[in-house]
Amino acid sequence: MITDNKRSYGWLSILIHWISALVVIGLFALGYWMLTLGYYDPWYRLGPWWHKSFGMLLLILTLVRVLWRFANPTPTLSGSRFERVGARLGHWLLYALLLLTMLSGYLISTADGRGISVFDWFTVPALITSIPAQENLAGEVHWYSALALVILAGGHALMALKHHFWDKHDTLKRMLKPQK
Ligand code: HEM
Ligand code: HEM
Repeated sequence: MITDNKRSYGWLSILIHWISALVVIGLFALGYWMLTLGYYDPWYRLGPWWHKSFGMLLLILTLVRVLWRFANPTPTLSGSRFERVGARLGHWLLYALLLLTMLSGYLISTADGRGISVFDWFTVPALITSIPAQENLAGEVHWYSALALVILAGGHALMALKHHFWDKHDTLKRMLKPQK
């Protein structure tokens, strides 16, 4: 079952969720490590190249994911009313932080008017270059939004484990395999 329904996520949402989770954690670690590299380190250029290429692919994947989210029914949540509202808000905040992190990353990289080469495969053009002190401003936003994203994702993972082991709901199961 590829589509989502009221009872469960389908394969496409599940696949995108776990690919995104891996890529977000990888990009955070890589971004952090990049800052420690010296100019003569070969990774001084390679690191940002991988970071930006994976980041732009994740941006495209996330836009597909949000469209898919609107095109499908959303699985109903379990738990108290408080938990359900909290989970919905939390999920939308995760999407918002994902998009903010990637858009600010795009704005840092394109501030000098050059596009972003994605794995030397295609180039995403620079569209906005006129924000005052764009590179620094976008850099600040990028750091704080990336940090907020991984902290919220950590809390989100803990809640998923709580639903699974404590409440014994099928919350985590339906993000691992479509449920009947
Ligand atoms: C969810 C996805 C992403 C995460 C979690 C992430 C995380 C990070 C982190 C932790 C850093 C190091 C701290 C900093 O200077 O801000 C960083 C730096 C950077 N990121 Fe990302 N990033 C993501 C996506 C992107 C994208 C899509 C681009 C651009 C196409 C990008 C471009 C950059 C650049 C150019 C830097 C270096 C900034 C500097 O030297 O100050 N990032 N990223
Ligand atoms: C960077 C890491 C992660 C991000 C950005 C992320 C993001 C999201 C988002 C946005 C949703 C909402 C899906 C929707 O209804 O549209 C979601 C759902 C879910 N995530 Fe994550 N996630 C991450 C990591 C994890 C991890 C590590 C776990 C498990 C330990 C997990 C378990 C779940 C579960 C079980 C759901 C379904 C919740 C429900 O049924 O409403 N996620 N995730």
